[in-house]
Amino acid sequence: MIEPAVSLQSVTKTYGSFTAVDDFSLQVERGIIFALLGPNGAGKTTLIKILTTLMRPSSGDAFIEGHSVLTHGKQVRRLIGVVPQENNLDRYLTARENLVFHARMHGLSPQHYNPRIDRLLDLIGLANRQSDFPDTFSGGMQRRLVVARALVHDPQVLFLDEPTTGLDPQSRRVLWDHIQTLRSRMTIFLTTHYMDEADTFCDRIMIMDHGKALVDGTASALKDALSQAHIYEVEFRNHSDRYEEILRSLPFVESLERSGNAFRLVLTGEESLKPLMDSLGSSDVRKICLQEPTLEDVFLELTGRTIRE
Ligand SMILES: Nc1ncnc2c1ncn2[C@@H]1O[C@H](COP(=O)(O)OP(=O)(O)O)[C@@H](O)[C@H]1O
Ligand SMILES: [Mg+2]
Repeated sequence: MIEPAVSLQSVTKTYGSFTAVDDFSLQVERGIIFALLGPNGAGKTTLIKILTTLMRPSSGDAFIEGHSVLTHGKQVRRLIGVVPQENNLDRYLTARENLVFHARMHGLSPQHYNPRIDRLLDLIGLANRQSDFPDTFSGGMQRRLVVARALVHDPQVLFLDEPTTGLDPQSRRVLWDHIQTLRSRMTIFLTTHYMDEADTFCDRIMIMDHGKALVDGTASALKDALSQAHIYEVEFRNHSDRYEEILRSLPFVESLERSGNAFRLVLTGEESLKPLMDSLGSSDVRKICLQEPTLEDVFLELTGRTIRE
């Protein structure tokens, strides 16, 4: 068998009596973009910290390209690039100095790192700001600089913990364009709260909660598993308020969102369509159509609708 790029073997992490990661096992094959999704507090950052040797598991072991984080931390750190959830740039160093400092920590020589840093600054569109301090950068620019820093030593596995959180759509797009250019050269392991990112850009998606994996597969496989043909859009010609009351009272309507005269219904199953039609009658129904579930539907179905942390 080919060595997986990332492997977790029965990893548990407890904080006091609280279990943040619960007997977690996972193998990520080389060369893919892998997305870990989960509500706040699910355990994503804890997993990434363990994989990047920032934290030791309470039990179990994790491997990067076959090297144990417990016994071969140094080799692991050489192989990985890390974009942490919080930007941790040195604010007293310029953009370029931040990259140089990182390169030196990895033992690279100036002949080696200078041309690389030139190229990276160019790629992330910060060449003309390289002598400025990170505090003068927008959120998107800082994030791009952190990504560049993670790439200075040419890692084989790149970890990105919520790389795009808080960025505007343009900055998200620029960052994703950049991440995609890395696809062929390294394995990418990321977390995100943006379902569209996972859906569009990631080869494999895992949803976790309470320290455990819930599902794992391609975006379309995850959606297919949920799609028992039971998400409908119903639009009424009139009397929408009355119909809302009726819909809310039906036991097989699992959830309901309204915008104007249109409702988006999640039914408990395909067999609920007939009773739904029976309870609505037909004279006021303008249209009723089946909807493909989104990744967000899958996420909410699995992790619930209650707000976390
Ligand atoms: N250092 C810590 N001490 C105590 N509890 C922690 C610590 N770090 C994280 N936790 C808790 O562990 C759980 C998982 O946290 P985290 O891995 O950051 O989740 P996520 O990244 O999915 O939001 C949360 O309930 C969090 O409050
Ligand atoms: Mg986190």
